Amino acid sequence: MSILKELEMELKKIIKEAGYEVENLSLEPSNRRDLGEYQLNDAMQLAKKYKENPRTIAEKIVKELEKYKKLADVNIAGPGFINFSLSEDYTYEIVNKMHEDIFSNIDKKDSKKIIIDYGGANVAKTLHVGHLRSANIGEALKRLAKLVGYNVIGDAHLGDYGRPLGFVIKEIKDMYPKLPYFDENYKGEFSKIELPISNEDLEKLYPLASQKAKENEEYLEEGRIITAKIQNHERGYYDLWKKIVDISKKEIQKIYNDLNVNFEIWNGESDEMEYFEKLKEIYEKSGVLKESAGAKIIEIAKEDDKAPMPPLLFIKSNGSASYETTDLATILERKINYNPDEIWYVVDARQSLHFEQIFRAARKVNLVDENVNLEHIGFGTMNGKDGKPFKTRDGGVMNLNHLIDLVYQETYKKITNESIAEDEKKDIAKKVAIAALKYADLLPFRETDYIFEVEKFSDLEGKTGPYLLYSTIRMNSLLEKSKDIKIRKANKFKGKEEKEIILNLLNLPLSIEKSLATKSLNEIAEYIYKLTSSYNTFYAENKILTEKDKELQESWLVLTEVVYKLNNILLDVLGITIPEKM
Ligand code: ARG
Repeated sequence: MSILKELEMELKKIIKEAGYEVENLSLEPSNRRDLGEYQLNDAMQLAKKYKENPRTIAEKIVKELEKYKKLADVNIAGPGFINFSLSEDYTYEIVNKMHEDIFSNIDKKDSKKIIIDYGGANVAKTLHVGHLRSANIGEALKRLAKLVGYNVIGDAHLGDYGRPLGFVIKEIKDMYPKLPYFDENYKGEFSKIELPISNEDLEKLYPLASQKAKENEEYLEEGRIITAKIQNHERGYYDLWKKIVDISKKEIQKIYNDLNVNFEIWNGESDEMEYFEKLKEIYEKSGVLKESAGAKIIEIAKEDDKAPMPPLLFIKSNGSASYETTDLATILERKINYNPDEIWYVVDARQSLHFEQIFRAARKVNLVDENVNLEHIGFGTMNGKDGKPFKTRDGGVMNLNHLIDLVYQETYKKITNESIAEDEKKDIAKKVAIAALKYADLLPFRETDYIFEVEKFSDLEGKTGPYLLYSTIRMNSLLEKSKDIKIRKANKFKGKEEKEIILNLLNLPLSIEKSLATKSLNEIAEYIYKLTSSYNTFYAENKILTEKDKELQESWLVLTEVVYKLNNILLDVLGITIPEKM
């Protein structure tokens, strides 16, 4: 149980001793700090329940609270708000407990299996800003869920199914008709063939081929035939498709790796479609599939729908499966192989209709048990200064590598430490760039659109990744310099600066709870900033290394170590790596 939770339990017990029963304690950090550090609002609720004057109740509770050693300055304000601060001894207790075990102020949850579907990069297609957001938010949510003890599995759910790849192969066939992949009589091994095409080429082929398919009937038709050949695992075409997936996947993995994003599962939509026959059988048997103009659809509208809900297109009139079908097959596959308690989809908010459709269609045939939570965790867009989704100068989609590079150019300028060699400097600047980008991406509430401002994100001052890195590295270097001092216990503090840090430490579970409840990392991102700046204020006021009072010095170092460790844990939750120096 967290330190804060323990305090809450004890407060409940004390209230009970005063003669009252509360279910959910209403304890909050106070915004009237002149009155106390915390505010307890339960007397107001209890007044209704017990039909007594709130002030009288508050007085009875306070009488008991005054005996409690963890608190100080207990008082009543207004009609019955109870205020209090933490006693000096309790502050040492908090710091020492966290020093012994940094996880002691984190509540563990009951075990639950959660699959998080995020990333969603498309094979042979350039990764864009939306994929960045999915990767950042999904990865951080996954790490947060792991921190509190959930069993979490991340799935990259690569987009490798459907017509676009058929068109890409059609284009390759036009360019290199002599490739053995297209030769029916070829008897050799395809794995030995060198494909004269790089990932960069693929990314260029993709838009080109899609454009041609739009303009040219014949091209479209052949692309469709090729798509069917891939899906039927036809020799040659299927092998070329696999090769393309391999090439593209390597690049995708490299980018995710740079972003410190890791998946437990690397399934693609095509792997999921292996479950299509089974899926079709389930839907056919249940009788919910309807014929409509040659297509098979599922009606999912409900009587009380406020907005029209179009039917889900299960099989298109040309016989092919839709994006919706791939997601239904995925649910079935996950049910069979993992049987999760929840599936979270971290995907652009603009796909909300898609998810509403598949969830409803899944419920229609109980593809998962009723109590399994299927949830779309939508996010807003990263915009340019014009308020529209961030684009390149010529109006194209901003590719992820390019975006990272823009930030890198800026962070590179910030590494001014001359003792760092050029190679190392580049390496550090890259880490700082990723931190800048990630922190800026996780700081707003996930559904909020925000503006990409490279200078602001890269600044060493303010609410930024680089500020947090710089501060944390400085804590480490202080600890390194005081290596020879034995750091055992905190038992002396000087003033309100330390107290601010300790209040932040104690309040950690509040931010974790809020982040989990909203499935947004903004609370954690704000928390790290608050904790770090409270530490920096303290650091600026005191000369720790040269402090003569050894008890005080040791206590300060204990406190530093706690904040340093916690920053490491929380930055890691955000998926941010701390360089050794900068
Ligand atoms: N590949 C899709 C895209 O780029 C995202 C996939 C999202 N996940 C899902 N299960 N549909 O838009």
